Amino acid sequence: MSSQLNRRDWLRASGLLTAGFGLSRFTSAEAATPTAPLVSGFTNEFAFADDPFDKMSKLRARLLANENPLGISANAKEALIKATELGNRYAWTEFGQLKTLIATDDMVKPENIMLSPGSSDILMAAADYFSQRSGTILTSAMTYDDLLQRATKFGAKVKALPMTKDYKFDLNAIKASLTPDVKLVYIVNPNNPTGTILPTAELEAFCREVAPKVPVFIDEAYIDFYEPADRPKLGKLVAEGLNVILARTFSKIHGFAGLRLGYAIAQPDILKTLHAYTNAEFAVSITTLMAGIASYKDIDWQNHCRAENAKARNYTTKALTDLGYEVIPSATNFMLFPIRMKTKTFEGQMFAQGIGIQTRDFNGQPYCRVSIGTMDEMAIFVDGFKKVVG
Ligand SMILES: Cc1ncc(COP(=O)(O)O)c(C=O)c1O
Repeated sequence: MSSQLNRRDWLRASGLLTAGFGLSRFTSAEAATPTAPLVSGFTNEFAFADDPFDKMSKLRARLLANENPLGISANAKEALIKATELGNRYAWTEFGQLKTLIATDDMVKPENIMLSPGSSDILMAAADYFSQRSGTILTSAMTYDDLLQRATKFGAKVKALPMTKDYKFDLNAIKASLTPDVKLVYIVNPNNPTGTILPTAELEAFCREVAPKVPVFIDEAYIDFYEPADRPKLGKLVAEGLNVILARTFSKIHGFAGLRLGYAIAQPDILKTLHAYTNAEFAVSITTLMAGIASYKDIDWQNHCRAENAKARNYTTKALTDLGYEVIPSATNFMLFPIRMKTKTFEGQMFAQGIGIQTRDFNGQPYCRVSIGTMDEMAIFVDGFKKVVG
């Protein structure tokens, strides 16, 4: 299999795309060279080579796609069932209800919000639009690269700068690299796969300085793992009229990876433009929408998921640290750490035990990214890891 496959190609090749199974992926360090192609670094294709569905169903610990292992909230389930009675109707008021809820929290107007079936659609629309104008997308190496891969297909260049030593986006380096051909800055905060977060004040100052020159796209897929009081709340920058585009998803803390719901917060004109590149809003079903409204209001469930995630993350961090491994401190539902064997060998031995994880090489160093599952799944992971590393 070509090392150039992107997420969709790989999923298609492995037969997983039709199942809607989302594997997140990220840029490798090779992407730091502006002219170098983005290299997928996927090494786990062999794990599913013959019967992907069968193999996936046999996983004892499914820790490879940053899903919520606890499911969806009981309130969301109830709303979902109730919504089936409205399945014959187009959703009208429900769009407005959800937008109003989000707008109130983010201190923007409903017209600053566009819904979508997962945030991937927003990333794809942005990739299509900004690459149409050619030029360069400025980002960091070691980040989620669905948007970047798509943009390069349509002729954009990606300049992925090295991260700071503590695995964060180097905002100063990005500022120093702003040239007239830069059409978009893409930041993931908290970042996938490193799990790191940027200091809010620095990110906000960065947006204030950069957004008047170039649109700043901030992928906040994992924002809900911040305690609500600590969240960056960059909606206020949008309210001030800055060209900042925020992308969020219900796939993580709300557990909607299969139900598909996400949204963008941005200036109404940029949303209108992006909507010309996607049928995103119309593609959200009334069932997902009504379940989304119920889940959004279910603060107790979100708090529960955040707390359980932190508990299982702390347990795993301690277990790995006790074994002498250095885990990058994570603010999310996954963590990244360097391993001491080849990615392919490691991954094969983990999958052979029914433990699904992801691996990548960055700058020649192999890493494992493990999603945070239930405590039981993390115990299986730790046990399996010990067997592999001896
Ligand atoms: C950083 C990041 N952005 C966006 C997405 C897309 O998620 P979805 O399309 O399920 O909303 C993911 C999925 O894992 C992600 O990790």
